[in-house]
Amino acid sequence: MNEEIILSVDRVKAAYGQSTILWSVDMQVKKAAVTTVMGRNGVGKSTLLKTIMGLVKAQEGNIDFNGTSIVNQASYKIAKAGVGYVPQGREIIPKLTVRENLLLGLEATADYKAKMTEEEIYDLFPVLQEFRKRLGGNLSGGQQQQLAIARTLISAPKLLLLDEPTEGIQPSIAYEIGDIIRRLVSEKNLSVLLVEQKIDFAKHVSDHFYLMDRGKMIKNGVAGLFDFGELQEHIAV
Ligand SMILES: Nc1ncnc2c1ncn2[C@@H]1O[C@H](COP(=O)(O)OP(=O)(O)O)[C@@H](O)[C@H]1O
Ligand SMILES: [Mg+2]
Repeated sequence: MNEEIILSVDRVKAAYGQSTILWSVDMQVKKAAVTTVMGRNGVGKSTLLKTIMGLVKAQEGNIDFNGTSIVNQASYKIAKAGVGYVPQGREIIPKLTVRENLLLGLEATADYKAKMTEEEIYDLFPVLQEFRKRLGGNLSGGQQQQLAIARTLISAPKLLLLDEPTEGIQPSIAYEIGDIIRRLVSEKNLSVLLVEQKIDFAKHVSDHFYLMDRGKMIKNGVAGLFDFGELQEHIAV
């Protein structure tokens, strides 16, 4: 086992019914760094995160988290082992308050106790403290995204899976979220697997890139050396 790697996806195949979406996907996520998967709509990025989370069954291959296989385990077990998941579209409960939405994250802990205090959460996301009594549905898209991330952080995951956090939110808020992600990496040694379509944002936060096309990783590299020229044509929507 490589000490630097927190998640290793090896030859994973997954399908919805008869239609195969992931064809032998290989990828690795480094500890205390941001690894970003880019690729056009529909290539299988969200399916990859769902397969890691045990929400879609892997038909072949293996997924190791911290040196232990988690492939096809129950999602709650994967969450309790330390994998936090922020789904695409955020999934905030509109009729619950911000604080109630936040506390839903306790479901992912073994003992219903917060592993990151509310003070720590509010220090990262001051707007959530200000709006803690508002209904989730009354927050802006960017605030809902912050809440979705905070809800996952309350269980202090070792690895955070983030599916298109900047989708439909203002660039300035996106960059604020990017800075919070970098803070979590440097201050809490958080490891992040990010799915992102916005190249500028991805460059701002990522240490390592993968490019996915039609259910396969076709290229990867470290930030700074990765050739985005080719990426542009793969990612144009
Ligand atoms: N629940 C589902 N049932 C059947 N097909 C699905 C389902 N979810 C996604 N798909 C299909 O799987 C493919 C990959 O989807 P997805 O992983 O969401 O791609 P991405 O996140 O890269 O946009 C798409 O063709 C999509 O239509
Ligand atoms: Mg997606």
